Amino acid sequence: MNIAIVGASGAVGQEFLRVLDEQNFPIDNMRLFGSKRSAGQTRTFRGKEYVIEELTADSDFSGVDIAFTSAGAGTSKQYADVITRHGTLMIDNSSAFRMDQDVPLVVPEVNGADALNRPRNIIGNPNCTTIQMVVALKPLDDLSHIKRVRVATYQAASGAGATAMEELKIQTAQLSRGEEPTIEKFKYQLAFNVIPHIDVFTDNDYTKEEMKMFNETRKIMHSDIKVSATCVRVPVLRAHSEAIWAETERPVSVEELREAFAKAPGLIIAEEKNGEKFYPMPLDIAGKDPVYVGRIRKDLCDDCGLSFWIVGDQIKKGAALNAVQIAQWLLENDPKFKK
Ligand code: A2P
Repeated sequence: MNIAIVGASGAVGQEFLRVLDEQNFPIDNMRLFGSKRSAGQTRTFRGKEYVIEELTADSDFSGVDIAFTSAGAGTSKQYADVITRHGTLMIDNSSAFRMDQDVPLVVPEVNGADALNRPRNIIGNPNCTTIQMVVALKPLDDLSHIKRVRVATYQAASGAGATAMEELKIQTAQLSRGEEPTIEKFKYQLAFNVIPHIDVFTDNDYTKEEMKMFNETRKIMHSDIKVSATCVRVPVLRAHSEAIWAETERPVSVEELREAFAKAPGLIIAEEKNGEKFYPMPLDIAGKDPVYVGRIRKDLCDDCGLSFWIVGDQIKKGAALNAVQIAQWLLENDPKFKK
């Protein structure tokens, strides 16, 4: 396979290189793209150095089978035609095309087959909080249709990119020296704080991030499920956590749900360690592939409700890994790519 990574210098771009290697993805040739800022820099992949090319209207993607793009929605919109015009499949990590009807939005554990129908040669990689949530909702929905979900997220700095992770580290160091923190990437100081505001506010007073969880979940699950979210940035470097309350059509027991979670692909139950109660935490989950689930219990307010806590690495399953898994799914299932 001939692969391109657009946004190669970014947090997700860097993770693409690691994940493609870890997954033993079959690669004959690799091309890296960025803006003027990183063009000319090199990155190493499987022992070979690659120079980052500047992405321009004249960039030639002919011969590239799959381009993984993670350079922001504006860049994706501006260059989608340049990237796909010679038949390259664009697996796009941005929000640019996710809700377009002719662009499938895919989490392989939930709706892999949607990837087969992609008239524009674009597949959307969903929002990170949505990806990890649907991996956990699918096994419950298979037991009984989920009508409603209420969710509060605890999102790491990584969701805002590599420079935002750096800002959190710098702020923490500045504050511990008694200095004024530098605030550039986030609206307010993130170190020693939480910010209940991710992406811009929309007309209904929910943020765009919260509405992504509502809309993308329905599209991926092919469901009329309703999702009411409060998305919160927390001073964690990478790995997002979510407290989820799900309401199903019929009452589902904790035992039934635990059994379904245990069999679900991409999901690991973490409820016990050394004979004591335990739970997934972002520090432990950073760098790991699966989504972890714990604190599984009945909702005290609702007979048909269940509550659980999930943690997933935002840069891995929430971004690069899911995109690579879409490509792997196609290698196994799509005649165009089948090995
Ligand atoms: P560059 O560093 O060359 O500007 P992050 O989300 O971690 O901040 O990373 C964003 C990524 O998107 C970077 O790799 C950045 O490359 C890339 N990027 C941003 N704007 C463009 C653009 N106009 N063309 C190509 N790549 C871009």
